[in-house]
Amino acid sequence: MVSAAGTGGGRVVFDRVAHRFPGGNGESPTEAIADFSLEMEEGSFVCLLGPSGCGKSTILNLLAGFELPSVGRVLVGGRPVLRPGPDRGIVFQDANLLPWRNVLENITLGPELAGRPREETLAAARRFIRLTGLEGFERHAPYELSGGMRQRVALARAWITEPPILLMDEPFGALDAQTRLSMQELLLSIRQVTGATVFFVTHDVDEALFLADRVVIMTPRPGRIRQVLVSPFPRPRRYDRLILDPAFTELKHDILHAIRRPEYEI
Ligand SMILES: Nc1ncnc2c1ncn2[C@@H]1O[C@H](COP(=O)(O)OP(=O)(O)O)[C@@H](O)[C@H]1O
Ligand SMILES: [Mg+2]
Repeated sequence: MVSAAGTGGGRVVFDRVAHRFPGGNGESPTEAIADFSLEMEEGSFVCLLGPSGCGKSTILNLLAGFELPSVGRVLVGGRPVLRPGPDRGIVFQDANLLPWRNVLENITLGPELAGRPREETLAAARRFIRLTGLEGFERHAPYELSGGMRQRVALARAWITEPPILLMDEPFGALDAQTRLSMQELLLSIRQVTGATVFFVTHDVDEALFLADRVVIMTPRPGRIRQVLVSPFPRPRRYDRLILDPAFTELKHDILHAIRRPEYEI
């Protein structure tokens, strides 16, 4: 399978995007997003950070093509996003595995539906099973796996077709702290190999600082960009080293303050 990374298909532009959800039953509409502009270079890792309800998932869904913006444009590889497509892999908080298919069959589902040759699909599956540490679990059913293992399968399933862009909506939010950290490390190590653009939604400041090249901090109602912070931390990163770095503590403090400021101002 030929990777699309490196061909410009991983470049993302939000061009003055606003989004409104119509209100049902005579209720007023929700202004979810206002004046959101952002450019992501191919291969960059952006974390979208903000409190619950500030519009993070709406932004991700616009990039996924599940919603079309009320105003403005979302471009992938220079073309407007009109619908979901194989150039954007997605991982949600819930792994959403098909319970009647085993680990291998869940991972190969996408290429199977796309009619890819069996040998090629199995070779790609073997590669991502190795990269996600799932060797030996190929024949296990989803119910036999821990939450962390299920997210490994979701990651391998999203990545098997090597999309130039990976969208992640709080993918590790339901995991315990130890498992979350090992999944974050896993994500960084796989990304080093594939070079995909990653758009990662989180409300966890530590997670954003550990993972991202840039942290985009949002304000709520309507969701706007408050601040874009460029990470000063070189890669490869180690979380146990990062938390000893005074710059990390300082940035974490600044971000927490930026996120909470609207409440102070009330
Ligand atoms: N399908 C929808 N219909 C109406 N309102 C929605 C819909 N999806 C999200 N919203 C509203 O838009 C705002 C942003 O939601 P969301 O993007 O899910 O926030 P976050 O992911 O940051 O928690 C919230 O006020 C939410 O209630
Ligand atoms: Mg959300």
